[in-house]
Parts: sequence; C-alpha cells; structure tokens
Amino acid sequence: MKVLVTGGLGYIGSHTVVDLLNENYEVVIIDNLVNSKIDVLDKIKKITGKDVTFYEYDLCEKEKIEDVFKKEDIKAVIHFAGLKAVGESVLKPLMYYKNNLMSTINLLEVMKDFNVKKIVFSSSATVYGEPKSLPIYEDFPLSTTNPYGSTKLMIENILEDLYKSDNSFDITILRYFNPIGSHKSGLLGENPNGIPNNLMPYIVRVATGKLKILSIFGNDYDTVDGTGVRDYIHVLDLAHGHVLALKNPKTGLKIYNLGTGLGTSVLELVTTFEKVTGVKINKQFVERRKGDVAACYAAINKAKEELGFAPKYNISDMCQDSYNYVKKNKDI
Ligand code: WQD
Repeated sequence: MKVLVTGGLGYIGSHTVVDLLNENYEVVIIDNLVNSKIDVLDKIKKITGKDVTFYEYDLCEKEKIEDVFKKEDIKAVIHFAGLKAVGESVLKPLMYYKNNLMSTINLLEVMKDFNVKKIVFSSSATVYGEPKSLPIYEDFPLSTTNPYGSTKLMIENILEDLYKSDNSFDITILRYFNPIGSHKSGLLGENPNGIPNNLMPYIVRVATGKLKILSIFGNDYDTVDGTGVRDYIHVLDLAHGHVLALKNPKTGLKIYNLGTGLGTSVLELVTTFEKVTGVKINKQFVERRKGDVAACYAAINKAKEELGFAPKYNISDMCQDSYNYVKKNKDI
C-alpha cells in the first residue's frame, strides 16, 4: 500500500517513514525542506535498504499536490508538514495560520478529488492548554495559548467538520506529548534550526559543549521538585503509533493521545541524562517561561485498547539515544 507522508524528512516524519518501510509500505514524501535536510533521504535508505519517492514541493501550492496524486497511487496520507516553533508562532502568527491551515486545506481538497479518504494527522498535547487534572484524557476541554497550538486545534476542527460533511473519510488525530530520542543507528534525530526551544535538543548541545549552560525555566511549580513535568515519549514509539493508526480496523473519526502516561520533571530528565551518559550538565534556574504549564502527561488507555499502542522505551533509552545522535553527527 502506497502512503503519502507530508513532512517526511522531518524529525518525527523520518522516523515514521523508516517504520513504514520496515512494515513493507511503499512511501511517497512531500517535503519543502524548510525545517529538514535532504540528506535524511540517504539516511532512510541506509537504515532500511529501501528507496522512497521524494517530491520537494510546498503544500501551499495545490497544483503540486495534484501532480503527486496524478503520478502516484496514494491510498493513505500521514500529515506531518507544518511550522511548529511555539515562540516563532507568537512573533509571526499570520505566517503560521497561512502556512499550516492553507497547506492542510489544499491537501484535504486534493484527497477528496482523488477519492483518497484515509488520513492520520499529527496533532499535539498543546491543544489541552492548562489541564484541569492529570492524567489528560482525549475528552478533556481544549484550549490553546499560542498560534502554533491554535493551528493544531483549528485543523482538528477542520477534520471534524470534514468528517461530518462526508463520513467516508477515515480520520485519525494523534495528539503527541513530548517526543524525544533518536533512531538507534544514530543516523536520524532531532536537529532544529538555530538555538533549540525544546529541552532535550538543548541538553545534548550543553553535553557536547556547543551551548554553555542549560537554563531551567522555573523551579517553583507545584511538582515533585518544582520544575516542569512532561510526558516524554521516544520518537521510535511515537513513529510506531502512526503505523498502528494506519492498521486500525476502526474507521470514522478517532482521536488518540500518544505518550507514555508517565510524568518526568526537568530535573529528573537532566539527572537521568547525566547518569546514563556520564556527562555533567551545567545548569541554572531562571524564571518561568511564559505559556508553560506546570505539569502535563497523558492517559493512553484508548490508544492501548484500540491501537494496541505499547511504548517500549524509557527515559534512559531516550537520553542515551539523544546523546548518541549528537555524538555521531558532529555538525549538530
Ligand atoms: C519541556 C520542559 C520547559 C527548554 C512544546 C510544544 C509541543 C511540542 C513539544 C511541537 C518545560 C522546560 C525547556 C529549556 C527548560 N512541540 N525547558 N529549559 O513546551 O512541553 O512542548 O514542545 O509539536 O507542542 O508545546 O516542550 O521541550 O520546550 O519544554 O527548562 O531550555 O522543559 O519549561 O517544562 P513543551 P519543551
């Protein structure tokens, strides 16, 4: 079965492509390389021994998507492509709304025209805003605090309205918690442009000396040690969740949390990283980061029951694999 993966050269997209190829799917990637690198194609080939068809196209150009659907017998779509930096979205909201919404609407229109109705959408736990209690269930109230998160919530609403208008669509919305880690080969990993916003890419750059010190945003939260708590999930587990979503016999509109169900504080993650790698992380406590929630972790019962989702990797694996990636890729 041929699957179109938009944003397939990105961090989560590339790990998902590897898993798809290993499960004998044929893969077509559309990626405009705005936040990914072309050499990831070779790395996917090196890991799997398989080729993928690649189009360096921008989903905001609808005729390009039509071109792909004319040439390729696409049966399903996994949609990762989109701008995803929270801070940048606050500074450039129009760019985020235009890019993330226009690209998705173009994609859905072409899917409808070509009668391709199966889509898995990359959403985010950020749509829960400040959770009313923990763990977070899929039926919790939704709210967002930044334009990036709002684009994710708007796209979820678009998908829900599309389904109501045409229930031949088979839609899966996956709400990721905090993806970290890298492929065991050290060939694929998280390589954001510029200074990392997220915690783990920052930690590994302090470990390699690329960055001097880790600033921990707040140690006065009502948590185990005062620092922020998140549900970190290994990118390999997250990638496999997408394959399980494709195989899910249940049709219609489905929403699943993809996390581990465990909360880990910033200090606990740093301590585990130091223990696993033997590298001391230079750190300081600073004021809270605007928009952060104190704690956020998932209930994954639904994904377990309906998808057979069962995360395999723990925090130590995530730390080890993240460090392994930057050690093998000196330019990071
Ligand atoms: C994790 C914890 C910070 C950096 C965001 C998006 C989410 C998804 C993942 C895209 C928090 C603390 C961080 C640092 C720190 N992105 N921290 N020092 O904010 O939970 O989630 O990224 O899909 O949608 O909302 O992830 O890694 O930025 O922060 O102390 O230099 O680490 O305060 O407690 P976050 P994060």
